Amino acid sequence: MPFRKRTHSCGRLRSEHVGETVTLNGWCHRIRDLGGLFFLDIRDRFGLTQLFFDVEKFPELRNLRNEFVITATGLVRERTPETVNPQVATGEIEVVVDEFAVLNPAAVLPFPVSDEDQMRGVSEELRIKYRYLDLRRPSMQAKLMIRAECVRLIREYLDQREFVEIETPIFTKSTPEGARDYLVPYRLEPGLFYALPQSPQQYKQLLMVAGMECYYQIARCFRDEAQRADRQPEFTQLDLEMSFVHQEDVLELAEGLTRFVCNSVIEKFDLDLEPVAPFTRVTFDESMVRFGTDKPDLRFGLELFDITDIGARSDFAVFRSVAEAGGVVRGVRYPGGAELSRKQVGELEEFVKGFGAKGLAQFPIKEGFGGIAKFFDEGTIQEIVGRAGAEESDLLLFVADTEAKAHDPLARLRNEIGNRADLRDPRKLAFCWVLDFPLVMWDADESRWEASHHPFTSPKADDIQYLQSDPSRIRADCYDIVCNGTEWASGSIRIHRPDVQAKVFSLLGVDEATQKERFGHILEAFRMGAPPHGGIAPGIDRLVMLLTGDENIREVMAFPKIAGGYDPMMDAPGEIDSKQWEEMGLLLREKPKP
Ligand code: AMO
Repeated sequence: MPFRKRTHSCGRLRSEHVGETVTLNGWCHRIRDLGGLFFLDIRDRFGLTQLFFDVEKFPELRNLRNEFVITATGLVRERTPETVNPQVATGEIEVVVDEFAVLNPAAVLPFPVSDEDQMRGVSEELRIKYRYLDLRRPSMQAKLMIRAECVRLIREYLDQREFVEIETPIFTKSTPEGARDYLVPYRLEPGLFYALPQSPQQYKQLLMVAGMECYYQIARCFRDEAQRADRQPEFTQLDLEMSFVHQEDVLELAEGLTRFVCNSVIEKFDLDLEPVAPFTRVTFDESMVRFGTDKPDLRFGLELFDITDIGARSDFAVFRSVAEAGGVVRGVRYPGGAELSRKQVGELEEFVKGFGAKGLAQFPIKEGFGGIAKFFDEGTIQEIVGRAGAEESDLLLFVADTEAKAHDPLARLRNEIGNRADLRDPRKLAFCWVLDFPLVMWDADESRWEASHHPFTSPKADDIQYLQSDPSRIRADCYDIVCNGTEWASGSIRIHRPDVQAKVFSLLGVDEATQKERFGHILEAFRMGAPPHGGIAPGIDRLVMLLTGDENIREVMAFPKIAGGYDPMMDAPGEIDSKQWEEMGLLLREKPKP
């Protein structure tokens, strides 16, 4: 039988089609050969349909294997009540096959595509090497469809608000976003290189100078930096920028867009998530004090509490010396933690030491207390319990250090307690704005000020006065969207005046010659009528992760890279031939080891 095109998809047929002759195309998903009875589930992107065969009529069936591409024509019939499968949309019917053909056989596969249970044991590297097979799985296809819907909804929302989608170049000059650049050698003049954009930051600002007013792009960004669970070397941003706006305008747009996209996707795909509520707002300083991080997970409370003053007047030498030296004593509550074993408390201590804490002091709220409670009188203990908002059977844990060093271990500990005490509601997307970031942070290793967002971020008008005297006091018109403890978007109002931009570059240690060489184009553009402008860039991959509940960014990308930026499917990066070396005018300083 030649290839006969389908009349319906494999997810379409219902009882109303009983009696119709239909043709289905797809992959052989599951075979059930029960001797006289032969069933086969045929699968395409839209679903599964059960095919029923008369074995006598199709002796070649016995050669069939999973993932063969097949076409089948037959009559739709109702299943008997006891064989109806309510788990499958087409579970009320089956197709009694009349004509059947294998369109393409499949070799033995490296893993069983149709068996989700067995797939759990397959290594991620093997899945990515054979991604085209991995993506045949309905669970993976669902993620790509959610991703596509997010992008479609973004376009719909921005289109209604008169945003213009504009592509910007991939071959360009370095844009500083804090990572190493990927470089492309320039053949016509050996020694020159393009840099791939870490983001379209400068182009979008130049589009504002060009008068485009409201721009967006689904933009590919390239950053040669260490990979993490939520970081890929090549990823996608929704990059957007607006002219003649204040910070509040960008916040309103981005929040409205996020809620529209998330809530539409939750509804359309019937995801087990609550609708996204209006965002909470915290300032950077507040977030650091309350959660020890600028990426707070607000799915649960457990705010940090401060007892530096109590430590200063206590008999506990560790707390007193840290407090006297200007450090802080802060703590976090472990609900129900009073009954943890000594070993479990020891694990928590090792955990915080892994993030730079010198130790972890503790006492449980139970009869007789214990731990460091012996250093405090009854009244002081009650004062600490009050600040912690603690209850009977909680455990109080403390870190004493400089403020900068205490934050990270406490924030990690808070999250760890969230895991161990199972405090997160998996149905929540707890979005918040983190506002008023410092313009710059001191990089002690390099002994210089570093932009906390990027060098184009505008200082708050009232704080420009501290540019020379005390840069650490300058707050920026800079904002992040954080959800469930992950940074989802970053943005800022930009500097649009060349004099301010030059001053900020100077503060960042970019001397005049370098300013001219690296950023001359943008400084020049700002001298030719640049409107006030600002924008934001949410990460599309991370949005999909939030919606699918994935903790690994590779799960929501069609063709991700594994460690080291390697693509095992294409075997990239790969070698180039000697002619290309020559054309590029390149020479390897050292031969790579075989
Ligand atoms: P930023 O560098 O903070 O800002 O990036 C914005 C958002 O992009 C996502 N993101 C990533 N996603 C996956 N892998 C990565 N390696 C990665 N790096 C960043 C995150 C992040 O919040 N030009 C500025 C934006 C602006 O000011 O408008 C920028 O790129 O979700």
